[in-house]
Amino acid sequence: MGRLPGSWDPPAWSGPWKGLLLAASVLSSCLQPVPAQTPTPTPVTITPASPALGGNVSLAPQNVAQNFTSCNWHRSTTNDETSRILTYFPPPNPVQHNGPAHTGRETAGPGCALHIAGLTLSDTGNYTTLAPIPHGGAGTRSNALSVPCTEMLPRPTVTPNQTLVLENGTFTLRCNSSPSADTVLWLRDGASLTPSERLVLSPDNRTLTVLGVTRSDGGTYQCEVGNPVSTNRSEPSTVTVAYGPASVRIDPPGPITLTLGSPLTLTCVADSVPVPSYCWGLNGTDTNQTGSSLTFNPMTLDHQGTYECWAHNPITNRTVLVSVTARTRCGAAPVPPTPSPPCRLTTRGHNECDSLPG
Ligand SMILES: *[C@@H]1O[C@H](CO)[C@@H](O)[C@H](O)[C@H]1NC(C)=O
Ligand SMILES: *[C@@H]1O[C@H](CO)[C@@H](O)[C@H](O)[C@H]1NC(C)=O
Ligand SMILES: *[C@@H]1O[C@H](CO)[C@@H](O)[C@H](O)[C@H]1NC(C)=O
Ligand SMILES: *[C@@H]1O[C@H](CO)[C@@H](O)[C@H](O)[C@H]1NC(C)=O
Ligand SMILES: *[C@@H]1O[C@H](CO)[C@@H](O)[C@H](O)[C@H]1NC(C)=O
Ligand SMILES: *[C@@H]1O[C@H](CO)[C@@H](O)[C@H](O)[C@H]1NC(C)=O
Ligand SMILES: *[C@@H]1O[C@H](CO)[C@@H](O)[C@H](O)[C@H]1NC(C)=O
Ligand SMILES: *[C@@H]1O[C@H](CO)[C@@H](O)[C@H](O)[C@H]1NC(C)=O
Ligand SMILES: *[C@@H]1O[C@H](CO)[C@@H](O)[C@H](O)[C@H]1NC(C)=O
Ligand SMILES: *[C@@H]1O[C@H](CO)[C@@H](O)[C@H](O)[C@H]1NC(C)=O
Repeated sequence: MGRLPGSWDPPAWSGPWKGLLLAASVLSSCLQPVPAQTPTPTPVTITPASPALGGNVSLAPQNVAQNFTSCNWHRSTTNDETSRILTYFPPPNPVQHNGPAHTGRETAGPGCALHIAGLTLSDTGNYTTLAPIPHGGAGTRSNALSVPCTEMLPRPTVTPNQTLVLENGTFTLRCNSSPSADTVLWLRDGASLTPSERLVLSPDNRTLTVLGVTRSDGGTYQCEVGNPVSTNRSEPSTVTVAYGPASVRIDPPGPITLTLGSPLTLTCVADSVPVPSYCWGLNGTDTNQTGSSLTFNPMTLDHQGTYECWAHNPITNRTVLVSVTARTRCGAAPVPPTPSPPCRLTTRGHNECDSLPG
């Protein structure tokens, strides 16, 4: 029985056994995705339109007779028995008879749709179906399909996954990803980054360089890779911007006048990343105190004097001195001594305080 002419008969059905092409180009290499071909009127609906390696695809022929009793799928441009994947008998008693070309991953369903699971490169080829068409007879369904060489993208990684950078410095992050990723985007704290004079992307977007680092450049960075079938995002990479100490002060500010016997707590406050180390001096002599606070309870005459807080950032290697004078109501106002470092500050964020000659 021949096909009936009719408006439903797409021009693509030029030959009786025109095949369905699943991009031959993917056979060679995954490195160069093939641009999808211009869509043409298709008598087979392919879902998804861009099948992915490892994914599934459904090939659903259009215009299959409602009352069809069986249909065939072949992996070739012909209907020879050696290329037969399966013969399908629809409900109410659906039966699938597998043919020589069945790989164990093909199933047929309503409307003679062919479902292929776990797509591999060897699924590349021409597929042909022979199914009854409305108004009687049998027809072939054919199409030209390009499968871009796409895979479900694995999670990319960002290296280094942790960075400590000086304010005004430079850092570089790299997005390590499958070569089949078509797009690479960067995010900071979940928001996408726009390149600028200071935020420089390599031509393939895989390398992000930040120049003249500011404090607001700190945060968690991620890269997001994409291709037509998937997107995936890296774990966060933490960038810490070291700066300071800045705005160092002692709380309460001086001069402090206290009643003899009342308690006194001095706290050194600094804007600094990382947290600075502290040394306290009194009248130019090390107190051997290294916390951010100093407490006297009660305050005695011995505690009068000029207190110096040395705040040291071991990464920026900066030390800032601030001081206050404290005296009791009955004591004489102290004369501030010439400040000199009473503390041997280390770059390991740990103080070794030495007393200086008084
Ligand atoms: C792919 O097909 C298999 C078998 O039919 C099924 O188990 C799986 O859920 C499908 N996967 C997707 C992503 O649809
Ligand atoms: C599919 O068929 C076309 C036309 O017959 C042929 O040129 C092409 O090589 C075939 N593709 C594959 C992967 O066999
Ligand atoms: C299916 O129905 C059409 C009419 O719609 C009829 O011509 C054809 O013979 C039927 N085929 C079968 C297998 O029942
Ligand atoms: C990202 O890739 C990982 C494996 O590397 C996978 O488990 C995960 O499902 C992927 N996420 C998405 C959204 O595809
Ligand atoms: C960074 O990567 C190393 C191994 O490469 C891992 O041991 C470490 O936990 C990671 N750190 C973070 C913050 O993810
Ligand atoms: C960075 O430069 C600014 C302006 O020149 C300066 O105030 C700041 O202290 C510098 N930061 C560091 C860590 O050197
Ligand atoms: C590179 O990044 C820019 C800015 O985020 C984006 O507009 C562009 O599409 C990206 N290009 C690629 C190939 O990922
Ligand atoms: C600080 O410690 C040194 C020894 O490490 C000691 O000689 C000095 O007297 C101490 N100074 C004070 C104020 O306690
Ligand atoms: C830190 O600064 C001091 C003096 O400012 C200098 O002698 C020392 O070499 C610096 N250390 C580092 C690690 O840069
Ligand atoms: C610090 O110096 C002042 C005078 O400038 C003095 O009154 C005070 O007793 C001194 N404190 C100590 C602990 O030496």
